[in-house]
Amino acid sequence: MNPDGEARTQEFLERLDGGHLVEADDWMPDAYRAELVRLIRLHAVSEIMGTLPEKEWVPRAPTLYRKLALMAKVQDEAGHGQLLIRVAEDLMAPRGENREHIMEDLFAGRQKFHNVFHLPVPTWADAGLIGWLVDGAAIITQGMLLGGSYAPYTRALRRIVEEEAFHIQHGESICMALAEGTAGQRAMFQEALTRWWPALMMFFGPPEDGAALSHQAATLRFRIRSKTNEELRQRYLSKYVPRIRSLGFIIPDPTLQQDPDTKAWTYQQPDWQQWRAIIANHGPRSAARLNLRRTSYAEGQWVRDVMAATRKAV
Ligand SMILES: [Fe+2]
Ligand SMILES: [Fe+2]
Repeated sequence: MNPDGEARTQEFLERLDGGHLVEADDWMPDAYRAELVRLIRLHAVSEIMGTLPEKEWVPRAPTLYRKLALMAKVQDEAGHGQLLIRVAEDLMAPRGENREHIMEDLFAGRQKFHNVFHLPVPTWADAGLIGWLVDGAAIITQGMLLGGSYAPYTRALRRIVEEEAFHIQHGESICMALAEGTAGQRAMFQEALTRWWPALMMFFGPPEDGAALSHQAATLRFRIRSKTNEELRQRYLSKYVPRIRSLGFIIPDPTLQQDPDTKAWTYQQPDWQQWRAIIANHGPRSAARLNLRRTSYAEGQWVRDVMAATRKAV
């Protein structure tokens, strides 16, 4: 970087420290733009790929009321993806890139999405658990990102977080019904919890080590985020472990405990090698979901063509 660029970056960082919010047209260091693009693309594509696990349960929801609520949630998630892709596109425009690049990268295996959306959803309890405990994890991350330094992202997040709060209530309501239900329903929830727990521990990403450190440190320095992965995971454990245990369910981690003085949780580290493999599209449902998305994208090509032609004609 030339000396002028360094001085400008320093000045930019000082403005951020003073609480300044950045808009899309403002000057920003390349590294700041790159971190935002990486984070917002990951978020956007996770919202879109996150529609697919629950979509599997729309035709099989146990009542019409549950079916309507689940459809509305799936639709919300697609809308979150749309909002975020627009935010990412503004940042990618100087490089001549747009949403089609994001989709091409997704299909070519270059664009990651969250580990939880690579997993199977074999029972109705899994669908409820996603709403309660996966959206519950997402809102902890997104609530923290609301205070970030890039204004267009925080504006989109404000709307997203409000809708996520409904998703959690919807998921919680399904899980409570199962918890108060028959022995078979309780067993179904317990099985889903046992299956999902390691993935929930992976959700926030590894503690500060290895490759994650550079992105984590950079996003903290740029005030895009204000908490580390581990701080978010600790907050999640404090919020959800007591609730899960109060329902009489067993969290499949015999080492899980909270220090009564420091309130810090110790827990079994998930297999981070497995996490890397899952987000590299080697999860049990990665290929099937990517194929579904690829097919849907191809089938929607005519809509994009019509929209592009209409824009040109106006
Ligand atoms: Fe969402
Ligand atoms: Fe959600």
